[in-house]
Amino acid sequence: MMSFLSQLPYQFATSAFVAQESTKTFWMPEKASTFADDVDGPFYFIYWVCLFFFVLIVALMVWFMWRYRRPAEGTTPDTHAAPTHNTPLEVTWSAIPLVLVIVMFYLGFRGALNMQEAPDGAMTIDVVAQKWSWSFKYSNGWQDNVLHVPADEPVRLLMTSKDVIHSLFVPAFRVKRDVVPGKFSEIWFEVPSVALDGQAERSFHLFCTEYCGTEHSKMTTTVVVHATRADYERWLADVSNLSTMPRHVAGEKLYNVRGCAGCHSADGSDMTGPTFKNIWSRTVNGETKFADGSNLASLLDSEYGGMPENYLIESIWEPQKRIVQGRSNAMPTFQGQIDEEEMGYLIAYFKWLEDNTPPPTAMELWEQAGKPAPGEAGDDAAAGNGE
Ligand code: CUA
Repeated sequence: MMSFLSQLPYQFATSAFVAQESTKTFWMPEKASTFADDVDGPFYFIYWVCLFFFVLIVALMVWFMWRYRRPAEGTTPDTHAAPTHNTPLEVTWSAIPLVLVIVMFYLGFRGALNMQEAPDGAMTIDVVAQKWSWSFKYSNGWQDNVLHVPADEPVRLLMTSKDVIHSLFVPAFRVKRDVVPGKFSEIWFEVPSVALDGQAERSFHLFCTEYCGTEHSKMTTTVVVHATRADYERWLADVSNLSTMPRHVAGEKLYNVRGCAGCHSADGSDMTGPTFKNIWSRTVNGETKFADGSNLASLLDSEYGGMPENYLIESIWEPQKRIVQGRSNAMPTFQGQIDEEEMGYLIAYFKWLEDNTPPPTAMELWEQAGKPAPGEAGDDAAAGNGE
């Protein structure tokens, strides 16, 4: 549904998505930030000025065409001298547009200045854009691909990109700014709680609005606005507490919030990257073939110490090292975004995806391997035993 909507122009997507539409106008989506009037005011002022002069000019043109048409054959043309100069008329048609453009500049500049700098004490969320997902990093270090914010509070986004130029756009908030590799940019906004329409939380569309490659149109996500700061803090505490959930559930959560799901399906369907369905058995059996002609079976012992987990970790942290046959070199590194502990959860999730049963216990792994499982698999499995 999301990816389908993201192919449509945003105003149509927004109208299908947003329940409350009372502040939506013909050209503009719902107003859900304190900036909305700064943007919509100048927009509609310019719009009506243009419409008025369009009608006026076309009407005059048509009338002049008729009034000064070629005389019929045989009649004497009107030989009155055409006027060369009319001072009151010229002053009028200069002064009126001058006043109009000064008003346009004033309204636009005032709005732009309001948006320029976040108020002191604004809550800051770090944003990293990469092909083709968003990552939002919160005060406690939790990273999520959905942006969560409290209402009635200024929120500042400190943004950068890992690869190419992206652009963050939330139509309902009227905020949009380029996200550029190698430098930081920022935007801020405040969502008034009236925009929540009495609900405890509401979602709004967030788009990448700078063409950034083949999956640009799918680089969309959601902003969830919580009614109070306490609701927001509660969400953050719940979501970031991975250690309290079964390991494969924590892994599934990471799969969804760290952007994996944008390129890798869990149900076997083909996307930019290989599906995660059966990825564990493909890896264990060394079935994966690489673009350079080698295959995992011949590398598993020599390169990865016989540990399929090590190959999976490498392909997430150093995805450029071995490209899977038939795939492009599209995946960015997730080093710094998925740490060792989280890698364990993801691998538990991969194992669970095989047959939707919880990952094997340490004892089962030992028996399968016929030896003590060293390193990470051993640790994973031992912790997994506690579920
Ligand atoms: Cu990122 Cu378009």
